[in-house]
Parts: sequence; structure tokens; C-alpha cells
Amino acid sequence: MLAGNPAYFFRTLTQQFGDFLHYRGLFSFYLVNHPSLVKQVLMETHRSYDKNTILYKRLTRVFGNGLVVSEGDDWKRQRKMMQPMFGPITVHRFFDSMAHATSQTLDRWSNEFSGQKVFNIATEMEQLTLRIAGEALFSEGFTQHADRIAQWNHRINFYCAKPPLPIIRDFWFPSTVNRRLKATLREFHQFIGEMIDKRRSSGSQNDLLSILLEAKYEDGQPLTDLEVREQILGMILGGHETSSRALTWVWHELDRNPDKREKLYAEIDTVIGDGPITLDHLPRLRYTKMVIDECMRLHPPFWFENRNVMHDDVQLGGRRLAKGSLVIFTRYALHRHPEFWNNPDAFVPERQDPDQPENKRSVYAQVPFGGGPRICSGINFAIMELVVVVAEICRRFHVTVAKENKHQMAAKMTMFPKFGVKAQLQRRSQHDNAAC
Ligand code: HEM
Repeated sequence: MLAGNPAYFFRTLTQQFGDFLHYRGLFSFYLVNHPSLVKQVLMETHRSYDKNTILYKRLTRVFGNGLVVSEGDDWKRQRKMMQPMFGPITVHRFFDSMAHATSQTLDRWSNEFSGQKVFNIATEMEQLTLRIAGEALFSEGFTQHADRIAQWNHRINFYCAKPPLPIIRDFWFPSTVNRRLKATLREFHQFIGEMIDKRRSSGSQNDLLSILLEAKYEDGQPLTDLEVREQILGMILGGHETSSRALTWVWHELDRNPDKREKLYAEIDTVIGDGPITLDHLPRLRYTKMVIDECMRLHPPFWFENRNVMHDDVQLGGRRLAKGSLVIFTRYALHRHPEFWNNPDAFVPERQDPDQPENKRSVYAQVPFGGGPRICSGINFAIMELVVVVAEICRRFHVTVAKENKHQMAAKMTMFPKFGVKAQLQRRSQHDNAAC
């Protein structure tokens, strides 16, 4: 079961053995599944845990010492330097390019997928979120390299999704996967290096590459080129697959819940009308945000979390954990904990309304972006992106899942429908009247 679908496996463990368990087998770990325990690990006693685990160590091959995997003072220094780039207002600078990329994608859909043509909307979401991340990083510089970047990205994801078996998956082992990863990283680093050189000679632009090149640490030092390359890899790889998975699940859930979809359309039609979407619309798209939050509750893209216990005598769940123990939790099981969610498997966006008193619960009952000091640094960027894409697609198209779609959930680094989501379009707006 662990090999087949680990998300089901861990949820079954929590259903059978409760919110705190010690598993001893091929791998040994403590599995926690209660918001108060998760809060302890991520927030209250976070200094007792680090990412020195077999899974995160594999990721250092890809991300080097970038923000995603760095530790201690190194991490603190990077986080402080990066934080201002992703503030709730700072990210507004990316709104226009997100809206533009979405609008161009939908114009293409109007032509390519007219007449109820069946297409895989999961692939489309991947392309769109890669473009959004790529343009945020490199402005127009992304477009001409999009295919290469997509290919590198697929190869890196393939490596990351492999189970961390000893020896075969060690980086020195001359396996095909390892050799391909090394070649891919070489090409990717070279590409980013060239982008850096070009940018230095052509001058600043409104993108993250320029911001990173101009950024300074607290002590006034700029980033080295290697540091810029590692942060870019973290943002492009960490930032687009997660968003594309979140969006793909939206179409799956809306198709199964037509009453919620109608309510969503009503909000979008009232707030945006004939469109296009503007920055001012965002705070009023409340139900849209609730739909997205509920999708990420049921299908958290980055579904698995793990930490290493750094010292002896760390207390958790009434136990003393030894140094070097592995503590894990899965967002998939936590977000469906029956004590915190009535009918936990049902899609009910209304329970995400923060103004309703019955929805008051620990924020650690739902942590799609993590929590505590290591909460996702791209959270504001991601939420704005998801709202823009969902609102614009729903404003223009009625997306339905095609009869031939076959559904099975898969959980690797991220959680996704194994066979994608085969979808069909019908127009909703005048803009696409002629097309579909
Ligand atoms: C729906 C989209 C996204 C989801 C669900 C998501 C989720 C997460 C999660 C669960 C973590 C780990 C937290 C932990 O270790 O406890 C994380 C970390 C991170 N994410 Fe995201 N993420 C998303 C989008 C993005 C985007 C768009 C970016 C960049 C623009 C980004 C950049 C990062 C970085 C750099 C970290 C490491 C932060 C640190 O350790 O200080 N993510 N994300």
C-alpha cells in the first residue's frame, strides 16, 4: 500500500492507530496527525527540528543550498533577504503578467478546443503555471526558452518523484536517472547563468531575476551568481508544479459539485462582469478563494511533510523522541481529520468562510502552505495566481469533465489525478461566443 499510494497508506494508519504513532518497519518514523502536534513541530518547538531527512537531502541535489532546503543561520539570512519580494502587496507587481498569460492561453483554447473537443486540462494548467512562474522570473526572456525549461522541469520532477531507496538513488550511483539529472542541472544552471549575464548588460526589468540581482543580505552583501541560480531553481520548480496541481483539482471538484460551480459563476459574473479581471476585483472574489482553499484542503498539492529531530529529549505527544528520529505528517490525512471537519471527504467551500463563527478552528488543521517560520514564501504569489486563473477561466468557459475521463489519485512529491483530467469547454462569455 505504501508503494502503491502512500497518501492512502498514511491516512489508513491514522484511522487505525490515532493521531500519534511510532511505526517501525523498512523505515521508522513518528506519524502525527493532530493540529496541536503539527503546530508543535512547525511552530512552537520548531528549533528542535530540521530538514536533515532522507527526502530533503535528495532535494539538495537539485536546490543546492537555496531557501527550500537550507538550514540554520544560512536559511534565516536567505529568508530575510527574500521575504520582501513576496509580500502581500509586493506580489501585485506580477498581476498584469499573470492575467495576460491567462488571457492568451484562453484565446488559444477558444480556437484549439472549440466544438467540445476533449483535452487534458492538467497539461494545460502545467503549461500555464510554468509560463506564469517563468515570466515572473525572466519577463519575456522566458518565452523563447519555454520548451527547454519545461523539459528540464519534467526530468527534475521525475528524479524527485522516485522513492529514496538506498544506494540506487544515491547521487554517486551511475543510474540513468542520476545521470540525466546531472546533465539537466548542468544545462539549467548554464541557461540561468546566461540570463544573468544578459540582464547585467541590458539593465533592470520588472522581474524576479532583476530583483535578485539587486538584492542585498542584511550585511549589505549581494547574492553570488550561484545563489541567484539556486533561488531561481527553487522558485520555478517549487512554485509551478504545486500551483498547477491545485488548479487541476479545481476542475475535478467543480465538475462533481455543479451547485457550488453555479455559486462560483454567480460571484464571478457579479464581480468581474464582462471583464477582464483587474487587481481591484481580487478582494471581492471571496467565494472563488473559498473554492480554492477547499480544493487544497481535500487535495493538498505538497501533501507530505517530514522533519528530523535535532537533539535528544525532544518532547512530542507525551513521548521523548531520540535525536535523529523522523517525524512526519501528511496534509492529506490532517486536512480530513474527522474531529475538525464534518463529513471530511465532502467538498464544501462554505466551511472556508473565515467570517462564520462555526468555521473557527486551529489554523494548523489546514496547512497547504505549511506553517510557522518555514511557511511557503510564495504563498501570496500562489494565492493571487490561483484566484486569477480560476476566475478568468470561469468567466469565459464552462469546464466539464469528459465522459471518457478515468480518475485515480496519485501521490508522489505532489498529489495529482494520475491520468490527468480530460475536459471539454463551452463558452460562457460573449468574448468566446463565436468559438465554442
Ligand atoms: C499552490 C501553490 C503552492 C503550495 C501548495 C506550496 C506549498 C509549500 C509548502 C507546503 C512548503 C513547505 C513548508 C515547510 O517546509 O514546512 C513550501 C515551501 C516553499 N515554497 Fe511553496 N507552495 C506553493 C507555491 C509556491 C510559489 C509560487 C513559490 C515561489 C514563487 C513557492 C516557493 C517556496 C519556497 C521558496 C519554499 C521554501 C520556504 C522556506 O523553507 O523558507 N511556493 N511551499
